[in-house]
Amino acid sequence: MRAVVWHGRRDVRVETLPDPTIRQATDAIVRITSTGLCGSDLHLYEVMAPFMTPGDVLGHEPMGVVEAVGSAVTNLAVGDRVVIPFNIACGACWMCERGLQSQCETTQQREQGTGAALFGYTKLYGQVAGGQAELLRVPQAQYGPIKVPEGPADDRYVYLSDVLPTAWQAVHYAGARAGSSLVVLGLGPIGAMSCRVARHLAVERVIGVDLVPERLDRSRRDGVDVIDLNDVDGDLVERVREMTDGRGPDAVIDAVGMEAHGSGGAQMAQTLTGLLPDRLAEKLMSKAGVDRLAALRTAIDLVRRGGTISLAGVYGGMTDPLPMMTMFDKQIQIRMGQANVKRWVDDILPLLGDDDVLGVDDFATHHLPLEQAPDAYSMFQQKRDGAIKVVFRPGT
Ligand SMILES: NC(=O)c1ccc[n+]([C@@H]2O[C@H](COP(=O)([O-])OP(=O)(O)OC[C@H]3O[C@@H](n4cnc5c(N)ncnc54)[C@H](O)[C@@H]3O)[C@@H](O)[C@H]2O)c1
Ligand SMILES: [Zn+2]
Ligand SMILES: [Zn+2]
Repeated sequence: MRAVVWHGRRDVRVETLPDPTIRQATDAIVRITSTGLCGSDLHLYEVMAPFMTPGDVLGHEPMGVVEAVGSAVTNLAVGDRVVIPFNIACGACWMCERGLQSQCETTQQREQGTGAALFGYTKLYGQVAGGQAELLRVPQAQYGPIKVPEGPADDRYVYLSDVLPTAWQAVHYAGARAGSSLVVLGLGPIGAMSCRVARHLAVERVIGVDLVPERLDRSRRDGVDVIDLNDVDGDLVERVREMTDGRGPDAVIDAVGMEAHGSGGAQMAQTLTGLLPDRLAEKLMSKAGVDRLAALRTAIDLVRRGGTISLAGVYGGMTDPLPMMTMFDKQIQIRMGQANVKRWVDDILPLLGDDDVLGVDDFATHHLPLEQAPDAYSMFQQKRDGAIKVVFRPGT
């Protein structure tokens, strides 16, 4: 099969690998028809490089057709159309029963001290081969895959793997509801979809912040009040307060994560880790912390007193200082984590009808053959050619 393989910082290649096979009774093999490129892949492409191993297959937003099932997979049949959640979960443990599939106790990575295994996501998360490939071995297939109807094109359903549940959870964790106010930092796929979900739930005021023109334009067209960071000259907090009765919003979603622009020191540290041998760089990243917290700090400043911050953006590291006094004094609540994909599927599926409430059918800006992955990664990272969401079509 052909697959997208990580070789080093900003070096991914499409290569021929052996086809995956059923290894456990709970496995399935899925032939991938569509598979997304995510902001999380950009972390692996660059900052998380110390946790990667050359040869890792990337990707965690796939869907396709079941090609084979293990003997314990009785809920799926060959030929079924399925979307694969990015977290690998058993569905039956203490955590899964409580809707915390990203903490599944069957697939937790205890040696690494991390939660559930994830597709295509470093040795921190089980080093499971990812879904930017023609074929995918799906562990825990007796639970994970989401069966979807035949008929509509893949784009109707592919975002159930990550973007939709992540945005849904972000809005839910923000406590956003009808009549409340919400700022969304970052209008990439996750932030843009969070705005759409919030508007669908009748959140009264949705303000989106980014600095890329076409991302701002798109959310403006979605009915979001957008603020271009380039226009506010460091006075974002002021601007948002003016728009929210002088108090700040009830909630802020950080849909940026450690890719945040604007923190020169950390950027230097990241470049530095790129120059160190991997073992050292891995240690520096997890012990010394070289993450950029610019977006999170902005969220802390923006949110009203007694408000809530919901972190969808991924963070790592240990020692970056947080303004604890401000957080305590403002009485801020913070919720965060990988999306528990299956927890939200029943809420989201009814919105994926022909009326396309969330606008998924034309959410992707680029559909590309898998062979173009190397160019697509650099285009998406550099936000060239209007790239907001890339979906690969393996086999085309
Ligand atoms: N929690 C989860 O389960 C989960 C799932 C998917 C993605 N993520 C994370 O969500 C984040 C966003 O993913 P994405 O696919 O939308 O990626 P993306 O990189 O395309 O989007 C990030 C956006 O933030 C903007 N930005 C950068 N710095 C900013 C700042 N200081 N203020 C406001 N905007 C800023 C960028 O211009 C970009 O448009 C990533 O960190 C990703 O890892 C988390
Ligand atoms: Zn993703
Ligand atoms: Zn479980």
